[in-house]
Amino acid sequence: MKVTIFGSGYVGLVTGACLAEVGNDVLCIDIDEKKIAMLKQGKVPIYEPGLDKLIEQNTKAGRLSFATDVEQGVAHGLFQFIAVGTPPDEDGSADLQYVLAVAQSIGEQMHEYRIIIDKSTVPVGTADKVRAKIAETLAARGTQHEFDVVSNPEFLKEGAALDDFMKPDRIIIGTDNPRTTELLRALYAPFNRNHDRLIAMDIRSAELTKYAANAMLATKISFMNELANLAERLGADIENVRIGIGSDPRIGYNFIYPGCGYGGSCFPKDVTALERTARSVNYEAKLLSAVEAVNDQQKNRLFEKLHKHFDGNLSNKTFALWGLAFKPNTDDMREAPSRVLMEKLWQQGANVQAFDPQAVEEATRIYGDRPDLKLCDEPYDALNNADALVIVTEWSTFRSPDFERIKSNLNCPVIIDGRNLYDPSYVAQQGFTYYGIGRGLS
Ligand SMILES: NC(=O)c1ccc[n+]([C@@H]2O[C@H](COP(=O)([O-])OP(=O)(O)OC[C@H]3O[C@@H](n4cnc5c(N)ncnc54)[C@H](O)[C@@H]3O)[C@@H](O)[C@H]2O)c1
Repeated sequence: MKVTIFGSGYVGLVTGACLAEVGNDVLCIDIDEKKIAMLKQGKVPIYEPGLDKLIEQNTKAGRLSFATDVEQGVAHGLFQFIAVGTPPDEDGSADLQYVLAVAQSIGEQMHEYRIIIDKSTVPVGTADKVRAKIAETLAARGTQHEFDVVSNPEFLKEGAALDDFMKPDRIIIGTDNPRTTELLRALYAPFNRNHDRLIAMDIRSAELTKYAANAMLATKISFMNELANLAERLGADIENVRIGIGSDPRIGYNFIYPGCGYGGSCFPKDVTALERTARSVNYEAKLLSAVEAVNDQQKNRLFEKLHKHFDGNLSNKTFALWGLAFKPNTDDMREAPSRVLMEKLWQQGANVQAFDPQAVEEATRIYGDRPDLKLCDEPYDALNNADALVIVTEWSTFRSPDFERIKSNLNCPVIIDGRNLYDPSYVAQQGFTYYGIGRGLS
């Protein structure tokens, strides 16, 4: 089948590569000329495990191509996916300008029946806006073509995106036209062989399902962080509590890790956007506001622990950070807890030496060259003459480090473990002062 994807970011590229891998003819469009030029040269602008190989294979096989030409994009696919960004606007609501710009382009260039599929995370009612924009643009051209608008939210996780797309937990299709459901069922059939994962519903419910899923996951994290902060005041260990509650199948072990706050391009903006949607219909979503507030507070915890340990004297000190990406297996630093920590340390006149297996380039792009930031190629180099080590991202390479080497490289044997990777008593035995999240009085 012929597929066009607008937006060649994390979602667009994964969707495009996976749909091409199963035999479709996919054209990915982006307005970012640099990005498309890179992709045409076989370079992948983001880090996602396995994506470079999949893109290479499918490009070579002639099933996947890239362009900036919108006209070519609209002419190509029966299926027109919208996978552009929906960042927060000034008041935190989802900014739909990129989605509606694609809708307008489709309206301007359409010459036959098209299925327009919203894969971007968009507020309830967006499909109506997309439909209205296309209809209005067609009317301005004085022409009429049939089209359908579908909501097909994406649930992939960065770092495991290919697997998530190839073996999805669910494929949500929100439509008001049964024929479109069947066409999408056919498109998704290769990912739906093991058992039927396709859930068809009305468009508004599909749009809300995506926000509900992210808000639920963010709620689990903020709940555990709230409990971790309580555990610190009560002298309890949140890791024991986590295992204790996870054993209840109604709760489960997944997604209940305490830490230094959630980041990334989805949870923060989606929780805020849902809360703003609630306001727009005169409903105060108290739980969502609390989830957000707890997370904002949690992103300060690593700084607060350093501030307390060094009695507020952070100026001219140097801190080693292990991890910059918002989570392992990605180079994405959008809303990452590392950014809050670094920016607070810099405000205090401290220096940062950081290592991340993938996000160093992204950190350079965001912060440029600055005297108080040294980005290191090796984790142990970041420790040289540093006054403490802070674990910010739980990359697997940090899980079993050489504690002797850490101690000999650091000025002071202090570890702030923002992901509870280490056993506090073992690390203490190695001669460190150790602070985790929610692990006894601190
Ligand atoms: N990243 C994730 O893990 C993830 C998971 C599920 C859903 N989502 C949602 O998917 C959407 C895309 O997210 P992303 O992380 O892939 O974003 P991204 O920022 O990585 O990519 C978006 C791309 O769209 C391009 N673009 C903007 N306007 C365009 C236009 N008019 N025509 C063509 N291209 C255009 C941008 O240049 C950019 O390359 C968002 O709504 C996001 O919330 C993201």
